[in-house]
Amino acid sequence: MLKMINLPYPLNALEPYYSKETLDLHYNVLYKGYVDNTNKTEEQLTKARETNDLSNIKCLEKNLSFFGSGAILHELFFENMGPAIPTSPSVELMEQIIKDFGSFEKFKSQFTAAGAQVEASGWCLLVWVQKWNKLEILQCEKHQDLTLWGCKPLLVLDMWEHSYYLQYKTKRPEYINAFWNILNWNVVNKRFLENKDNKK
Ligand SMILES: [Fe+2]
Repeated sequence: MLKMINLPYPLNALEPYYSKETLDLHYNVLYKGYVDNTNKTEEQLTKARETNDLSNIKCLEKNLSFFGSGAILHELFFENMGPAIPTSPSVELMEQIIKDFGSFEKFKSQFTAAGAQVEASGWCLLVWVQKWNKLEILQCEKHQDLTLWGCKPLLVLDMWEHSYYLQYKTKRPEYINAFWNILNWNVVNKRFLENKDNKK
């Protein structure tokens, strides 16, 4: 059974860039819903196997992908934020960013534009593609569309309206600009190190 992660900071820790009200709703209501629904889907899958009734399998697999990906991406997102204490990419990650995007500013511009232009509800991610040995920026529609199989999410930004609308309304770029202040690069650095040399 999947359990909710604990937030690594209090609900008001990201103020003023990310309001307590938004985070409370996001973590305690929406994220909880993804975890609960993933568990419910797993129970339904267990029952389907036990009863050998697989007539609803297409819907269950779809729910597993939607709710499961929703739960995982929220965990990566909550974990890669933190109080507005400046952090920065490690020397190794910065070298890779410059190699793959030209400069840190070019990476930041591409990430901000990609996030602002996510179609409808989705995510913006910096990922490590082991097969290509390089960083890429991806948009993800809903929680599970447009992904690149086998990539490792390093930096995750929630572009669903519930993540910014209370505070930023339709001003997506303002939300993304605020996010840079509460991004915890220490977590991104750790994910990069863990994945970069893992060729498995
Ligand atoms: Fe969300």
